[in-house]
Amino acid sequence: EYTDANNKAAASKNRRAKLTVRERLQDLVLSTEQALEIKNKLNHEIERGLGKDTHATSSVKCFITYVQDLPNSKERGKFLALDLGGTNFRVLLITLAEGAHFHMDSKIYAVPKDIMTGPGTGLFDHIADCLADFMKEYDVYKEKLPLGFTFSFPCVQEGLTKARLSTWTKGFNCEGVENNDVVKLLKEAIARRGDIAITVCAVLNDTTGTLMSSAWVKQNCRVGLIVGTGSNACYVEKLENVQLWDGPTEGVPDQVIINTEWGAFGDNDVLENIRTEYDRTIDRESINPGKQLFEKMISGMYMGELVRLVLVKLIREGLIFGGKSSDMIQEKGRFYTKYVSEIESDKQGEYHSCLQVLEELGLGGVATETDMADVRTVCELVSRRAAHLTSAGVACLLDRMGEKDVTVAVDGSVYRFHPHFHHLMMDKISELIDPSIKFDLMLSEDGSGRGAALVAAVACRDR
Ligand code: GLC
Repeated sequence: EYTDANNKAAASKNRRAKLTVRERLQDLVLSTEQALEIKNKLNHEIERGLGKDTHATSSVKCFITYVQDLPNSKERGKFLALDLGGTNFRVLLITLAEGAHFHMDSKIYAVPKDIMTGPGTGLFDHIADCLADFMKEYDVYKEKLPLGFTFSFPCVQEGLTKARLSTWTKGFNCEGVENNDVVKLLKEAIARRGDIAITVCAVLNDTTGTLMSSAWVKQNCRVGLIVGTGSNACYVEKLENVQLWDGPTEGVPDQVIINTEWGAFGDNDVLENIRTEYDRTIDRESINPGKQLFEKMISGMYMGELVRLVLVKLIREGLIFGGKSSDMIQEKGRFYTKYVSEIESDKQGEYHSCLQVLEELGLGGVATETDMADVRTVCELVSRRAAHLTSAGVACLLDRMGEKDVTVAVDGSVYRFHPHFHHLMMDKISELIDPSIKFDLMLSEDGSGRGAALVAAVACRDR
């Protein structure tokens, strides 16, 4: 641990050595060798996740989704979808039509903090209330529509419409939901109201929705990736590799989408050699210590806070702002992840957004141009590392599948809004995969909504 005395000693040593911020933060740089090592370790964990005897101890659970058919653009009809798992909760009404055309209405509802961490019945009552409100507003209150439920947390599925929550992630922690079937909890909440009717056709992860949504328009789509509040990926795996498969094997496609839940990669210590003191602080201060360690190095829920922790460290060591601090920079959660995107959107050598952020944090007066360049460097180091870790993950999946031309569908606020994330990933993945594989990263338009409708549509088609 870093005591004040240690800090002072480090500070004067740093000053004597004229260490630059970049040099001081070398532990945030992931070398290509390290990225390759992560890729191999992840593959090992995936194999263990898929294996009967190793599943229990693998940090990457590789949950079976029971989604085996990819859409064929012939799906039609009107569907409701619920999307829970990011910063917002949404209800959607989607009409799938001829030739991959579709129409979508949606409404965002807040999930208040006390509901996120209150009893599970409260959460599901809230969801049912929002659904009823939406159905009234969009004039489908009296209809019984098929519904797809995008529930973006790790779940053990027992078929398309049964999903037991294995553990809460991303700041949710409602009692009485873990180990329970979330479809049942939803139906019970709807029954408690007694005024609306729906048919739940499918429950799915946002990664699956993202993959399905893009596969509807791009036939070679085989991976769904989220880099948003959380981070996770799903991919199409051969049934023969899925030892835990308990569904039919005759007369069905010989593949199934696997929800890797790679956010939990490293929860069994396999990433200790790359985790930094900042990662350890983030984890220690989180509501789920010891869990989602890979996700905590990547996703939007933590990225801003990582930058803040690094800045606080640099201040304490006298390496930035002449050692001056502000109350706000010392406040947990006060450096928003969107700041990282804003600061990195400044043109090289300009610090317009950077200065604005520093002003918001009460540091505008003390920041020199060198300080601003340093703040940007910190943002770059943290976001690059996130992009490179994600790339190691995607490269692992691409090599595993071995198909020669694959589209990766991507969604999530970090990928969408960070100015360089896409390019950083394109470059890094190319460096890490088998060179004979061609790939592309495609922004998925509303995977959790349209994807939910598609999974529901494919499921209803077969009923
Ligand atoms: C978290 C959830 C996972 C989800 C991801 C992205 O990692 O556990 O289910 O896909 O966030 O939202």
